[in-house]
Formats: sequence, structure tokens, C-alpha cells
Amino acid sequence: EKPSILVTGGAGYIGSHTVLALKQAGYDVVILDNLVYGHRELVEKILKVELVVGDTGDRPLLDELFNTRKFAAVMHFSAYAYVGESVTDPAKYYRNNVVGTLTLLEAMLAASINKFVFSSTCATYGVPEVVPIPENHPQHPINPYGATKLMVEQILSDFDVAYKLKSVRFRYFNAAGANPDGLLGEDHNPETHLIPLILLTALGKRESISIFGTDYPTPDGTCIRDYIHVNDLADAHVLGLEYLLKGGDSEVFNLGNGSGFSVREVIAAAESVTGLAIPIQECDRRPGDPPVLIGSSEKARNILGWRSQYPSIQDIVTHAWQWHQKRHS
Ligand code: UFG
Repeated sequence: EKPSILVTGGAGYIGSHTVLALKQAGYDVVILDNLVYGHRELVEKILKVELVVGDTGDRPLLDELFNTRKFAAVMHFSAYAYVGESVTDPAKYYRNNVVGTLTLLEAMLAASINKFVFSSTCATYGVPEVVPIPENHPQHPINPYGATKLMVEQILSDFDVAYKLKSVRFRYFNAAGANPDGLLGEDHNPETHLIPLILLTALGKRESISIFGTDYPTPDGTCIRDYIHVNDLADAHVLGLEYLLKGGDSEVFNLGNGSGFSVREVIAAAESVTGLAIPIQECDRRPGDPPVLIGSSEKARNILGWRSQYPSIQDIVTHAWQWHQKRHS
């Protein structure tokens, strides 16, 4: 009998894919989600696990939940994640991502839950000095979103020393793709991410895809990112959880493929997958975008035994395309 796991943000993109992976691995899952960006029908119709609707900052709700259910660990996906909005409305980000997480951690400690898997981000590195970025690279985020994630990482280090809270922090590169079986996918509102916007353009829902900056110091002048399949992220989370359940010490892991694709290369991949011409519009740079972000995931491979099942950009775009076609049919 495998233990129960609380998954915050389980009604969102990466959270929902991980809930499915946890279920398939035999875990009992409860989702805590405030449904600001998460999807209720996804939990009820596809994931079919218990949903508690609320904020991670709601201490009475957490105390009641932890008094009535026993959890071996908490996996924490819920956070606001729009980089641009974090610049214009930082209070929203510090309140939810930092204060909300701190409240969750305090409630866990009060209930003697001492295992935590945290969604951090490559945005904590800021503009990298070297690529592929190793985990010990300096962290100087260039936007409030990245700053909130770094603050939680610091809280986790200090809580390990003081309260023996053991955590795995995953710094994701660019999460993309969809469950290959077509049940789950990327469904943000508003959507700001490159691959879904390209595919919405292919579907005729948008006129063109904007290329944010064509004068970067990269071979084709557009930004390079390390796209990582959401199912590979989900698998890594199950491994990270099991590492902690076996008594593993706190660790931080990058999750990327170690290779990057430019915006133009991703558009070309989407044209080849969809067989459609995708109109582009060359635009100015978007503030806060580092030219190149590529991560080394050697450590996750060595310590967790993690392997990327879908490293190819073709596969990532193909699965995303299947989902978008189904969703808009
Ligand atoms: N881009 C375009 N046109 C678009 C959208 C994006 O050219 O319409 C470019 C961006 O400028 C960037 C690349 O495509 O160079 C990827 O952009 P995304 O918005 O898809 O993702 P980001 O690289 O901005 O990802 C960042 C952080 C993540 C974080 C995420 C939050 O790297 O860690 O934002 O949503 F989680």
C-alpha cells in the first residue's frame, strides 16, 4: 500500500501530468488547487482524485486537511507563473508564491510532514554565465517571478537545517508537450508560451506568431531554449518523491534536455509536424528574456536515475499538436 501525497496545483499543466504519473505508480493523491488557473473538469473527469479547493496561504484549511488526512509528502506546483505580470504586479507573486508557500510549510511542520517536492525554475539563474547551466551556477533572477522561486529555495535550505524538512527542488527549463495519450495538455488562459501559441496559429485561431527579437547573439538571431517534455518532468517528480521517501537528503536538480532550439527552429519543427505554413511576425525583444537557456541534467540522471523519454522537439511538438487539435475540434 503506497502512501498518500498532497499535490498543490494538481489541476494545472505540470501538476496534472504528475498526478497521472503518481496514480499510475500506485499513489493515493489529493489535490489542493485554488482553481484560479487550474481546471476543475480535468480533475473530475480525467484525473478522478479528491480535489480540495483553496489557497496554500489558508492556514485553517491546511490544518483541517492535515488533521483529517495523513500525507507522507507534499508536492508543490501551485504558483503564479507569468513572468511579465510578475513585473507589473509583483505583490500578487510575492503573496502567493512566497507567503503562500511559507504558510504551507509551517502547516506541514505542525503536522509533522517533512518531505517536500518543489517546482523551481531556470528563471532563478537569470542570464547564465555558461551553458549548459549546472545546478551550482550563481542565481541572479531578472524578474520577480524568478525571485519568488529563489526565495522559496532559500526558505527550504534554512528549514532543512533548522527543522529537518527534506526537499527536492526541481529547476525546470521550458516545460512543453502533452501526455502522448491525448488526455492531458497545456491549457493556459491567457496563453503566453511559444509552442501553444504557434499551434494556435497553425489552427487559425491566431493570425501569426510573433518572434520576440531577431537580433540576439545566436546563430539565427532568435532566443534559444531547452524544451522538456511534460511527461519527462512528471516522471522526474515520481523519482524525486521516491528518493525522499527512501530517506534521501535535500537536493536540487535541473530538468532539461541539455540541448536548445531557437524560436525559428521551433516554428520550423511545428511546420513539419503540422504540414502547415505558419505566418510569422518579427517583433522587438520581450523584456527579461535571456538569449540562451540550456540546462545540464547530469545530476538528475546520476542521483535519481532519470532519463528523458521524449527529448526530440518533433515528439514534443507532435504531442502538443495532438492535444490542441483534439481540444479545438
Ligand atoms: N516567444 C516568442 N513569441 C511568443 C512567445 C514566446 O518569440 O509569442 C519566445 C520568447 O521570447 C522566448 C521563447 O519564445 O525566447 C520561449 O518563451 P516562453 O514564453 O514559451 O517561455 P520562457 O522561456 O519565457 O519561460 C520562462 C521561464 C520558465 C518559466 C516560464 C513561466 O524560463 O522557467 O517563463 O511561464 F516557468
